[in-house]
Amino acid sequence: MDLQLNGKKAIVTGASRGIGRAVADLLAREGADIAFCARNAAQVAETEAALKGAGVEAAGAICDVADGAAYRSWLGEAVTTLGGVDIFVANVSAGGGMEGEASWVANFEVDVMGTVRGAEAVITPMAEGGGGSIVVISSIAALETFAAPQAYNAMKAALLTYAKQLGQAAAAAGIRVNAVSPGPILCKGGFWEDAQNSMPEQYQAVAAAHPAGRLGTPEEVAACVAFLASPAAGWVTGTNLIVDGGFTKRVQF
Ligand SMILES: NC(=O)c1ccc[n+]([C@@H]2O[C@H](COP(=O)([O-])OP(=O)(O)OC[C@H]3O[C@@H](n4cnc5c(N)ncnc54)[C@H](OP(=O)(O)O)[C@@H]3O)[C@@H](O)[C@H]2O)c1
Repeated sequence: MDLQLNGKKAIVTGASRGIGRAVADLLAREGADIAFCARNAAQVAETEAALKGAGVEAAGAICDVADGAAYRSWLGEAVTTLGGVDIFVANVSAGGGMEGEASWVANFEVDVMGTVRGAEAVITPMAEGGGGSIVVISSIAALETFAAPQAYNAMKAALLTYAKQLGQAAAAAGIRVNAVSPGPILCKGGFWEDAQNSMPEQYQAVAAAHPAGRLGTPEEVAACVAFLASPAAGWVTGTNLIVDGGFTKRVQF
C-alpha cells in the first residue's frame, strides 16, 4: 500500500530516540521531510544526519518542550523551514514520576501543553495547505489501572479527550486528529531497557502479561503512527489506536 507520504512535511517532537525516532525514520523512508526537536545536541545532530541519509530534508533543533516560549518559537521556525506542515506528531512526555506536585506540573507542561501548543501552532498552516494529520502519543496507562496513581497516567488520559474534540473541530479544515496508545515498548536506552537490568523480575512479569510474551518495539508503534499520519487513513479521525500486542484486556466497543 502506498501511504502517499512522499513529499509530505512532518514535525515530530522528541525524535532523537525511542518511538519518536522510529516515527521520524519511517516517515523519512517514506519520503517525508522532517523537522524535529530534542534536548541532547549530539543526538539531534546524529538523527538529522541519519534522516538526511534517507534523501529527504531534515531539520533538527535543540529545544526543551517544557519551555513554552522556546517551544512555540521552534514550532514557528519548523513550519517556515519545511515550507508548511502536513503532519504533526506530539510525542514528547515528561514520563512517569512520583515527585508529588512537581510530577503533575511536569506532565501537564510537557505532555498536555506540549501537545496543545503544538496543535495550535500547526492548525492554521495545515489548513492553508489543504489539511493534514495530527497524531498524539498517549499510553495504555491512560486506559487501565497501571503502576500507580500518578500524573503521567492522568495527563495521558487528558490527551485522549483533547485529541477527540480537536478532531471534531478541525475536520472541516481537512485536518484529522488521532491518538496512539502504546503498551510497554522496549526502546534502546529507554525505561524498559533499564528495567530489564535493574528489576528483571518485574520486567519479566510485564513481558509475560503480553500474550506474545514480549514487549513491543518502537518500529511497531511507528508503523501505526505513519498510517494514521498518512492520507491512507483519510477517513480515520478521533480514534485511539491501542498498540500493545494485547497487553490490555478490556474489550473496545
Ligand atoms: N516506551 C514506552 O514503553 C511507552 C509506552 C507508552 C507510551 N509511551 C509514550 O511514547 C512517547 C515516546 O516515549 P519513548 O519511550 O520513546 O521516550 P524516550 O525513549 O524517552 O524518548 C523521548 C524522546 O523525546 C526527547 N525528549 C524528552 N523530553 C523532552 C523535552 N522536554 N523536550 C524535547 N525533547 C524531549 C528525547 O530526547 P532528549 O532526552 O535529548 O530531549 C527523545 O528523543 C511518550 O509520549 C511516552 O509517554 C511510551
